[in-house]
Amino acid sequence: MCGIVGYTGSQSAITPLIEGLRRLEYRGYDSAGIALGTPGRLYIEKRAGKLANLEAALGDSVPTAHSGIGHTRWATHGGPTDRNAHPHVDNEGKLAVIHNGIIENYTQLRADLLSRGHRFESDTDTESVAHLLSDLRKSHNGDLAAAMREAVKSLRGSFTLLAIHADNPDVIVGVRRNSPLVVGLGDGENFLASDVAAFIDYTKRAVELGQDEVVTITSEGIEITNLDGAKLAPKEYEITWDSSAAQKGGFHHFMLKEIFEQPKAVADTLLGRLNERNQIVLDELHLTKEEVQDLKKIVVLACGTAYHAGMVAKYAIEKWAKITVEVELASEFRYRDSVIDNQTLVIAISQSGETMDTLMALRHAKEAGARVLAVCNTNSSTIPRESDAVLYTHAGPEIAVASTKAFLTQVIAVYLIGLYLAQVRGVMSDVEVKNLFNEMVELPGKIEQILETVEPLRELTRGFASSTSVLFLGRNVGFPVALEGALKLKELAYMHAEGFAGGELKHGPIALIEEGTPVIAILPIGHEHGLDEKMLSNIQEVKARGARIIVIAQEGAEVAGAEHIIRIPVAPALLQPILATVPLQVFAYEMAVTRGNDVDQPRNLAKSVTVE
Ligand code: G6P
Repeated sequence: MCGIVGYTGSQSAITPLIEGLRRLEYRGYDSAGIALGTPGRLYIEKRAGKLANLEAALGDSVPTAHSGIGHTRWATHGGPTDRNAHPHVDNEGKLAVIHNGIIENYTQLRADLLSRGHRFESDTDTESVAHLLSDLRKSHNGDLAAAMREAVKSLRGSFTLLAIHADNPDVIVGVRRNSPLVVGLGDGENFLASDVAAFIDYTKRAVELGQDEVVTITSEGIEITNLDGAKLAPKEYEITWDSSAAQKGGFHHFMLKEIFEQPKAVADTLLGRLNERNQIVLDELHLTKEEVQDLKKIVVLACGTAYHAGMVAKYAIEKWAKITVEVELASEFRYRDSVIDNQTLVIAISQSGETMDTLMALRHAKEAGARVLAVCNTNSSTIPRESDAVLYTHAGPEIAVASTKAFLTQVIAVYLIGLYLAQVRGVMSDVEVKNLFNEMVELPGKIEQILETVEPLRELTRGFASSTSVLFLGRNVGFPVALEGALKLKELAYMHAEGFAGGELKHGPIALIEEGTPVIAILPIGHEHGLDEKMLSNIQEVKARGARIIVIAQEGAEVAGAEHIIRIPVAPALLQPILATVPLQVFAYEMAVTRGNDVDQPRNLAKSVTVE
C-alpha cells in the first residue's frame, strides 16, 4: 500500500506532487520519488526513507514542468532502497511508472522481458510493468492508454499504476484493479491520487474509477475507458471533507489531534440516528423487516483495530438483538470453509475501506450468498462500493497510522446496528432503545471530561517508559478494550504488550508477571455477573506476584490493590469501551513520545494495507 499522485495542468507540478505525497505518507514511508514531465527526457528523483529525504535531494534546482507523478512507498518486493524506490523507468529513460499493490506474475514477466533484451535496475515487481509498457507503447504507435489497456490484460494481482512518457509529457495514464485510484477535476488542471486527501486543497470535485478502468488525464480533461477501449461516463461526486481536517491544527501530532477530535466524531456518527418516534434510523441497511427477522447470524470481518470494534459488536448485538455474532479476522475467514448463506449478515468494518484482507473476505462472503454491510469511514472506497449496503462513520480523515477516532466511531456504528436490529426484531422496546441511545448521546461529553483531566495520566505514563512489557486485562466488553490498548502500545511504543481476558490469566499469562511488570486492568462496570469482583481478584493475583497495577475504573467504583486509578465517567456497562479506550490511547501516545518514537508514522506500519 503505497501512495500515488499524478498532476497535469498550468502550475509547476512539483508543488501539488510534493503536497499530495505529504498527505499520502500515511500509506507508506519507506521511500519517495517523482517523475516530472520535462520534454524529451523525464526528470526523475527518488530516495529511500521519508519524503523529507526526497525533498532534501530535490533542493532548489528542480526543473519547471507542468505534469508529473509521485510515489510514497511501503516496500513489498525489494528492500526500501534508493534503487527500489518508484518511479521505475524503461531502458530509454522515457517512460516512468509508479505502482501500488503487487504484480503476482512478475517473475514470469521479468524473465520474458529479460529474454527480449530489457535490463532491470531494481528488485521490484513494478519495474517489469515499465518495460512491458515501453514495448506495448511502441506497438500502439505511441498511444500510452492503449498500451496500458493491453499491459493490464497480462497482469495478475492488485495494482494502481500511473505512467507518463517524455514524448507526450502532459498526458498521464492510470489504471486500477483491487487498489484505489481517484481523479480530481480542477480548472485547467487534473489530478490522480490514491486518496482525495492528496488534492483536496485544489479541488472538491472527484471521479471514482471502477475496477479495470483506464483513465487518461491532460490539463484539458479526462477520458475513462474499460480494457476493451470503450469510453465510460465519469461518475463525479463532491468531496465533503474540509482540507483543514487533514492538517494538525496546532497539535504536535495527528494522533493527539485525532484523540481530541473523538467527542465530535462520536457525536457526528450519532447525529440523526433516532427519530421522534424513538426509532433508530438506519435506512442505509436496506433490509426489510422480514429479512431482519429471518437473519440467522451475523459475521463480523475486520483487521487490526477494526477487529476489536467487531469484538465489541459481539457483546452488544448478542445482548440486545439476540442474534449470534461471530467475529473473525478477515485474513483467516477468507481461507476457511465457513458456513454462511443468505440468512447471514456479514459486517465488514474498515476505516480506510481499502484493506485487502477485508476486501477479499467480503468477496468470499458474497460468493457464499451472504449479504454484506460495510462500516466504513472513507467515502466511495472499495469496500463500501463492493458491499450491498454501507453505514459510514463520521470520524473525518484519520491521518495518524494508529487508529483512534475511527475506532470509537466504529464501535458507535455497531451499537446502532445492534439497537436497530433489536428494535426491528421486537426484542427491545422503543423506550429501552431510546434510553440507551440517550446514554450514547452523553458519551461525547464524557470523553471530553476524560481528555480534560489527562495530564496526570501522561505524567504517570512517563514513569513506565523503561518497562519492557505491559499487560492489559479486561473482561466482557473490556476484553476487546484490553486488546486494543495492547495493540496501540505495540504499534506506537514498540513495547511487548498483550491483552488478556481476566479469566484466562490463571491459564498461562500469569507466568509473565515479574517484579515491577505493569498491568493495566479495565474494571468491568458493576456487572450483573459480578465481573467487577472477579477482576478485583485478578488484580490481587498479579499484585501478589509483584505487578505494578493501573486500574481504569468508573467514578465511584471501589478499587482495592491498585497503585494507580484512572477514573472514567459512569456509563452503562456495554458502552464502557467508548470511555475506557481513551486513557489507553493516551497511554500509548505518551509512551511513544517519551521513548522518542515517530508517533504518526510508526516503523514498519502503514495506515492502509492494500496487500494480503
Ligand atoms: C492497518 C492499520 C491499523 C488498522 C488496520 C485495519 O494495519 O495500521 O491501524 O486497524 O490496518 O484498517 P482498516 O482501514 O481496514 O480499518
